[in-house]
Amino acid sequence: MSINLVRLDAVKDDHEALVNFMTRNEFRFHGSKRLTRETVEAAIAKGAYRSEDDDSFWIDHTEHGRIGFARFEDLRDPTPMFDLRLNGEFRGRGLGVDVLRALTEHVFTALPGTNRFEGQTREDNIAMRKTFLRCGWVKEAHYREGWPVLGGSPVASVAYSILRRDWETGQTTTFVWDDLTV
Ligand SMILES: CC(C)(COP(=O)(O)OP(=O)(O)OC[C@H]1O[C@@H](n2cnc3c(N)ncnc32)[C@H](O)[C@@H]1OP(=O)(O)O)[C@@H](O)C(=O)NCCC(=O)NCCS
Repeated sequence: MSINLVRLDAVKDDHEALVNFMTRNEFRFHGSKRLTRETVEAAIAKGAYRSEDDDSFWIDHTEHGRIGFARFEDLRDPTPMFDLRLNGEFRGRGLGVDVLRALTEHVFTALPGTNRFEGQTREDNIAMRKTFLRCGWVKEAHYREGWPVLGGSPVASVAYSILRRDWETGQTTTFVWDDLTV
């Protein structure tokens, strides 16, 4: 595995590095494209990066070094979710696939009672959607106009998930997507 997840301490040791990472990168598919120091520090103070529900990690690559950040969310729910952000210079190189595989392994290893792991992205985040599919995740929902866009029209939110048994076997379980005929 080329990816190592390094747990970060947003309040103390990694505070400046985290603020720096979040403010120097652009996240055009997130709610806020550009984050300010104030918003990141407010989120840190609120426990958004580490709480009973959230935990945050640096993503280290054996060859490229530190390539990004990931946060696990809703950790006490039956279905945890995640936020994944690669550093700008490491996007567009297909590294997301190994990263998502590492996040999946982390969840199913650290949380033995968890059977589903879910992620959502905007419909126009093609890179993330392809990453989901390449890792054997299955699209389960397409929430039309479900993602508000600041100053623009809402776009769809697309939900993908992976089941523990699919992760264990490497076989993707599918279902009949088409609805009933009425
Ligand atoms: C989303 C992210 C994890 C994807 O990982 P990545 O390794 O950078 O993915 P890539 O850009 O290499 O794209 C994967 C595939 O999608 C394709 N793709 C990307 N954008 C595309 C577009 N607009 N149209 C068609 N194909 C596209 C790429 O060509 C690539 O396919 P290929 O390997 O056949 O060339 C990463 O880009 C990232 O962190 N982005 C910023 C934060 C973000 O959006 N996070 C997701 C929040 S849910």
